[in-house]
Amino acid sequence: MKDTFKQFGIAIAGSGSATPTATLDNDQLSQLVDTSDEWITTRTGIRMRHVATPEETLGQLAARAGRDAIAMANLSPEDIDLIVLATSTPDDLFGSAAKIQGEIGATRAVAFDLTAACSGFVFGMVTAAQFIRTGVYRNVLLIGADILSRWVDWDDRATCILFGDGAGAVVMRAREDRDRLLGFSLHSNGQKNHTLNLSQQAESRGLLTGLEVGRGQYRPITMNGREVYRFAVDKVPEVISKALYHAHLTTDAIDWLLLHQANQRIMDSVAERLEIPTEKVISNLAKYGNTSAASIPLALDEAVREGKIKAGDRIAVSGFGAGLTWGAAIFEWGI
Ligand code: COA
Repeated sequence: MKDTFKQFGIAIAGSGSATPTATLDNDQLSQLVDTSDEWITTRTGIRMRHVATPEETLGQLAARAGRDAIAMANLSPEDIDLIVLATSTPDDLFGSAAKIQGEIGATRAVAFDLTAACSGFVFGMVTAAQFIRTGVYRNVLLIGADILSRWVDWDDRATCILFGDGAGAVVMRAREDRDRLLGFSLHSNGQKNHTLNLSQQAESRGLLTGLEVGRGQYRPITMNGREVYRFAVDKVPEVISKALYHAHLTTDAIDWLLLHQANQRIMDSVAERLEIPTEKVISNLAKYGNTSAASIPLALDEAVREGKIKAGDRIAVSGFGAGLTWGAAIFEWGI
């Protein structure tokens, strides 16, 4: 007879990241729109961002990040069972994960895209965890990648200053003796969907008399910055507290607070509300801007490679953004 049902634990075993070579700093942006380095730095903390050229693809960035994460985990691409690509900006609306699977040679893996905007990485981590916990898959490559420069209105100074392009990845592995994913909490509120959109533009195309279909195209990002700001400083401390509650931990047990890199003022305010000292807050926003689903794994990978985050360190991550969606996860770094 088969064993009774068994739950597996999770380890976050490796990370990787990639950004395009070209950069755009605040002074260069002020040649495009009526803004200044001083305004952007004071209101957001962003100094520059990386932007993809038309030839660079999301798949290339994601594959680079994914390969590095697999190498850090001491695995080869053939060991990967599942690839989850969190993105809102795929190269192909049918999905980009399968192409990345082919590109990195993860021949055994099933691959799919997951869309939850800037919460995509946290939602992806929890999704991947369900496959591991139930024993379905042992090695999962989770990638967060976005090229928002393709979708920004470069004439709108209220939004174009915020975003940048990049990719980050982690390898999540099954463990039988311990579980390093300690708690999580996920939320959505579609009633506030209008506050941040990258939506299909309704333009009709007549096919036959009396029959019209929509033409596939999207309008650039629209946002109510103040509402999104208020949403973030309100919901992020709450969702982290919920994840900590599920982990049976309090904030003083956290070594690092790693929030979606949207705005330094949001990060400072969340840390203050949770009474987490600023030395524990990981921030690389100044160099990359808001890279959406990539921002958490990009900052994680940098901090790991700099030797800042060490094996066993406890990290609280939280993503928030369009949907509206928000979520948090508490995990320990390393196998
Ligand atoms: N440069 C100079 N002035 C700017 C500007 C820019 N880039 N963008 C807006 N302004 C102006 C506005 O026109 C407004 O001028 P007015 O007072 O003459 O009308 C003034 O600055 C204040 O605008 P406001 O939108 O109230 O600024 P803010 O303090 O709320 O800061 C954001 C704007 C976008 C930085 C801030 O709201 C924010 O970060 N929100 C969260 C956005 C976010 O993180 N989104 C992604 C989530 S995943």
